[in-house]
Amino acid sequence: MTKLSVDNIQLEVLDEGQGDPVLLVHGFPLDHTMWRFQVDALSTRHRVIAPDLRGFGHSDVTSGTVTMARFADDLAAVLDSLQIQSAVTYCGLSMGGYVGWEFFRRHRHRLSRMIMCDTRAVGDTQQVSRGRLLMAARVCEQGPGFIPDAMFPKLFAEETLAYQPGIVAATRSTILATSAEGIAAAQRGMAGRSDATPMLASVDVPVLLIAGAHDVISPPAEMQDIADALPVATFVSVDRSSHLSPLENPDAVNEVMLRFLEAGRE
Ligand code: MLT
Repeated sequence: MTKLSVDNIQLEVLDEGQGDPVLLVHGFPLDHTMWRFQVDALSTRHRVIAPDLRGFGHSDVTSGTVTMARFADDLAAVLDSLQIQSAVTYCGLSMGGYVGWEFFRRHRHRLSRMIMCDTRAVGDTQQVSRGRLLMAARVCEQGPGFIPDAMFPKLFAEETLAYQPGIVAATRSTILATSAEGIAAAQRGMAGRSDATPMLASVDVPVLLIAGAHDVISPPAEMQDIADALPVATFVSVDRSSHLSPLENPDAVNEVMLRFLEAGRE
């Protein structure tokens, strides 16, 4: 892991392997460790960069609101700092996917392909957005202790909760160690994010979409609709998983990712 100075803050970044770069961007309220199985599988052939976003993991926290655009600009600055000039494969999960649409909007020239896992293109309804602001207020008052039990039934498939206690416990620890201010700032940023749907037809890079078969936050049917709206897209549903498919069924996810990355080299 290295610490990089970006816009007057320090971001913790994993940088492993050699080859065409793949940027792994975690979901909410997690950190780069949610990609541990992909780091192992992809870094044998690729340079894998997996940052902790501002406010998460061991990166510095900024209070207030952190927009998806701010996260996207941080990622471009991370690539600058690592002197990565070649185009990257951007791979984001859920909030990492929301940041991905902004990354495309703002830094298109840095992209060769995208992998969007368990994510959405639409913005929030008023009700969802209000819920995020309530959660932001609650986490600032009480800390993150209530979040795992509130989110786990949606983050994990029943099978994962029953048979993969190690994954569930590690995710709990990650969330409990996350700064309340960082969580609140990202929630406020997600609440105000824009709808990426009108942009989908202009996404002129190949996109792989991966959905956990039991995902209720970003359901497979909705991700199939995103794929249908993109010019060049492949949609894959992964069984035995819900919203955290790369953690829940890493073998299946790694296989489709490696196949997609390999096809891009031909
Ligand atoms: C995530 O996994 O990043 C979150 O579920 C995103 C969200 O709250 O919409």
